[in-house]
Amino acid sequence: MIRRLGVNVDHVATLRQARQAAYPDPLAAALIAERAGASQITVHIRGDRRHIQDHDLRRMRESVQTLLNVEAACTEEMAEILLKVRPHRVTLVAERPGEVTTEGGLDVAGQGAEVAAFARRLAAAGIHVALFIDPDDHQVDASPVAGVDMVELNTARWSETGDRRELARLARATNRARALGLSVAAGHGLNLQNLRELVAAAPEIEEYNIGHALIGDAVFLGLETSVMRYLALVVG
Ligand code: PXP
Repeated sequence: MIRRLGVNVDHVATLRQARQAAYPDPLAAALIAERAGASQITVHIRGDRRHIQDHDLRRMRESVQTLLNVEAACTEEMAEILLKVRPHRVTLVAERPGEVTTEGGLDVAGQGAEVAAFARRLAAAGIHVALFIDPDDHQVDASPVAGVDMVELNTARWSETGDRRELARLARATNRARALGLSVAAGHGLNLQNLRELVAAAPEIEEYNIGHALIGDAVFLGLETSVMRYLALVVG
């Protein structure tokens, strides 16, 4: 399997927004990441617009050469934006106002009907839809029922704790999702250390979406070098 790296450029926008300036431009970062071998550009448009802005989505949709994957919550405001921009993929996430970062996966098991209805609207516009879920059996099992063919597994518990049981849960959820015919991506808190172990433990994960650590490493290494280091681990 050829694994893919999705580079999340949210934190280039975080830096820009810290000064309310026009620089640094997340689109410029996206184009460098693509040149360095990224298969996809991922951005999260949050209700509070703390980093990515509406105009970023429009510009990225026009200029990204690979695939644009937009993470967004299931709100009416987001539906309107997503149906206008029509990114290649939308990954539906849970979003809690005030959270520092995404705190957990979408509760597809508990809110399957709402998620399915939202996903259907996007799919009808030709957008590929994935669900960001915790690596739990009931969330995995509920995902195809909600009408999607792809999940992104939340790696936060593994990246935050380093607990091998969390790694085993991710491997198990990956196998379960694959057995249900789902494509599997993973992301949240991955870095050059924990990524290596995850790739080895769950080789069936076909896509990794990485932002914070990759952009942080880019401050010291340069963006192109940082992307290439992550890519080397993903591709294996
Ligand atoms: N995938 C999803 C669904 C996310 O919400 C995030 C964070 O925005 C990421 C991947 C990337 O996580 P990180 O920035 O910790 O690498």
